[in-house]
Amino acid sequence: MFGEYSFNDRRADSADGDPGPAGNQAPGRLPPEPAVFIGREAELDGIHDLLRTNRLITLTGVGGVGKSRLALRAVADAEQARPDGVWWVDLSPLHDPSLLTMSVAHAVGLADHSARPLDEELCAWMADRELLLVLDTCEHMVAECRHLVGELLQSAPGLTVLVTSREPLASPCEQVVEICPLPCEGPDSDALALFRAAALAATPDAAACFDDPDRAVLAAQVCRRLDGIPLALELAGARLRRWTLEQMAQRLGARFDVLCDHRTSTLMPRHRTLRTAIGWSHELCEPVERLLWARLSVFTGDFDVAAARAVCSGGPLSAARVERVLAGLVAKSVVRRTQERGAGARYRMLDTIREYGHDWLAELGEVRAVADRHAHWYAALSRAADRGWMGPRQVDWYRRMTIEHPQLRTALEHLLGTDPGAALETAGALWFFWFSCGHVHEGRGFLERALRAAPQQAPGYLQGLWALGLTAVLRGDMAAARALGEECTRIAERTTDPEARVRAAHLLSVSHLLPGDPARALEVAGPRGRARIG
Ligand SMILES: Nc1ncnc2c1ncn2[C@@H]1O[C@H](COP(=O)(O)OP(=O)(O)O)[C@@H](O)[C@H]1O
Ligand SMILES: [Mg+2]
Repeated sequence: MFGEYSFNDRRADSADGDPGPAGNQAPGRLPPEPAVFIGREAELDGIHDLLRTNRLITLTGVGGVGKSRLALRAVADAEQARPDGVWWVDLSPLHDPSLLTMSVAHAVGLADHSARPLDEELCAWMADRELLLVLDTCEHMVAECRHLVGELLQSAPGLTVLVTSREPLASPCEQVVEICPLPCEGPDSDALALFRAAALAATPDAAACFDDPDRAVLAAQVCRRLDGIPLALELAGARLRRWTLEQMAQRLGARFDVLCDHRTSTLMPRHRTLRTAIGWSHELCEPVERLLWARLSVFTGDFDVAAARAVCSGGPLSAARVERVLAGLVAKSVVRRTQERGAGARYRMLDTIREYGHDWLAELGEVRAVADRHAHWYAALSRAADRGWMGPRQVDWYRRMTIEHPQLRTALEHLLGTDPGAALETAGALWFFWFSCGHVHEGRGFLERALRAAPQQAPGYLQGLWALGLTAVLRGDMAAARALGEECTRIAERTTDPEARVRAAHLLSVSHLLPGDPARALEVAGPRGRARIG
């Protein structure tokens, strides 16, 4: 089934027993703040006031304007601390709105083990707590966020929610704050300060551009051209590594004049500026960098270089070149490189940049092929983790798979639509993740969908059924666990696989033992007791 991707497979399998460097950032913690933060004093004061007096505040504005960064700065102040903490949920990697509540529960540290609906559980958990919840990047699931936030606010009087979203939630008690670009007028503007900081981060030689008053005027012009949008300024600043300011002003002028034509005039002006700034960065990339940018857009959340190599190589981009080309994209600020989670180098793209890459991938006609490679890479990783779980590096596997959670979700979603047998095999291999790492409801959801979609003869069917049984045990639903244990036993008895038989017997036995029937548990654990079921 994975033969086509044997290259990827071998790489993942060669990591057998080696989960890689272990990350250590717990979910829900505030992401690390970049060193430079420019301006926004008035906005910060306003948000701090609102956080004292209101319970739902939404920062809106175009992509790249600085909503997430401002939210992070606003809540990072100790002043904003709440007795039960400040929790950050990044929703940008989440595609499936049905996983929203789980993501919030997981971020605040609520292990979802009950048979009650999770939103009820979460409301009850928050009811007597005082906390600040940040939902970052909600625009792709506005209705679901509105619904969940409404329920939570109603149940938890001590809860405050700060949202970032390109559009408001349209919730009755919502205070909407529109975030504008940075001011770009004058020689001391915040936009210029950000442009300068980005340029100096790219090359210390850029200092000369800003220290000379004549050239500073030109730099201010560039900032105005870019409408003071932080993301656009960062991308432009990074280009000063290769270009002079004069070259940049000239090329920028030409491009923006062209783009004032009818093709883009339906976009909001600021949106247009950003698209233009990204498109402009795009044009300035080497062809292989553009190709990698497009292919990297299949990743959700952060990823490592091994995954990039396996998923994105092909055609003109050989596997051996991927790391170097990736470094080129980092130098242009298209891709961010982080080490913070203690997991070795990880890479990610801001959502706005990723969307641009994805449009390009669609134009190249490669969406399906690259998503297949992505899914099969993470399927292979899941199998390696399954094999390594019961070994001395279990904690490392736990951390590794927790970091890869958004990618695992994306891979499973894709396989459910394209290769249900592989989805079932992967969801079944992840039994330990669902069972032991606090994702029971999510695991159940994926396993049920995969079992429905895949044929009974699929190689992963029995394992999927067994894994589903484990989630029932953990939820305390022993009737479901028993029924699944019996079905597993019937199927296992028809195979010659001793491990499958033992697992089935174990599930069935536990489903009797836990509700208090050890005699029956012992009976069904043995072959004669099980024979009566078959
Ligand atoms: N005030 C600021 N100071 C420094 N960098 C900023 C500021 N505002 C935004 N940025 C940077 O600009 C980029 C886009 O900002 P981001 O908050 O991700 O935008 P949004 O959430 O609106 O899409 C990020 O790299 C961010 O760090
Ligand atoms: Mg954002």
